Amino acid sequence: MSLAKTDFKIVVFLGAPGAGKGTQAAGVAQEMHMTHLSSGDLFRQAVERGDELGMKVKSFMERGALVPDEITIQMVLERLEQRGEQRGIILDGFPRNLAQAESLDKALSAGPYENVDVAVYISVEQPELIKRLSSRWLCRQCQTPYNYDGSKGAVSACAKCGGELYQRPDDAMETVLKRLEVYFRDTVPVIEYYKQRGTLAEVDGGGDVEDITARIVKAIGDSK
Ligand code: AP5
Repeated sequence: MSLAKTDFKIVVFLGAPGAGKGTQAAGVAQEMHMTHLSSGDLFRQAVERGDELGMKVKSFMERGALVPDEITIQMVLERLEQRGEQRGIILDGFPRNLAQAESLDKALSAGPYENVDVAVYISVEQPELIKRLSSRWLCRQCQTPYNYDGSKGAVSACAKCGGELYQRPDDAMETVLKRLEVYFRDTVPVIEYYKQRGTLAEVDGGGDVEDITARIVKAIGDSK
């Protein structure tokens, strides 16, 4: 089955580390029958496998730096070509600088979908970002995130699959501050890039996860 352009939406999620891009992309993708493509997850899976890509990207991720564009752009664009028959795709964590945004536009304009339909900017204040990242634990098997601030006894296993819970190495405070610095320098200009193209939808990323999901679903539905 081939999909006409109007049937398929290309959605970009923008936001600082800890804004809830991954959490929301998973929920919105399920609700709207879209594919969730996370550049960070793809890199973490490669690091876990210890393959060539993983060895190339590990040191960048560990110090909170961006992986070089030539690696990232090729990886994401290859995945975009395998989009399947869902109603759209959510790009979580890509593009993250202007070069990536321009490469994405160029690649899309050469195919049937032409452009990004909506860039959802999930905005959250910095103290909340730091609180979320410093208390984040993840299931090593199914990647479900949990918030644990140390006040409720020992960390237990994943409630969904029983997998071991762990903290991301780049959630150490020093690396979180570096990631925020990179975000303000390289990714904030991407928000302006989509604003100028009339495709930006800013969504308040504070409050209950389900309420935020509803705001994002509405923003995507309202896009052309
Ligand atoms: P990536 O994995 O993309 O990390 P990030 O952008 O720093 O984002 P996070 O995953 O930390 O946060 P999030 O916004 O997804 O929030 P989440 O939903 O998890 O990138 C990691 C690294 O990979 C980069 O540093 C770079 O090295 C490399 N990389 C990736 N993409 C790249 C690219 N395009 N170019 C170059 N390099 C790239 O939520 C965070 C926590 O908050 C969770 O514990 C969650 O449970 C909790 N939470 C979520 N929502 C709420 C809420 N409403 N209330 C309370 N808690 C909440």
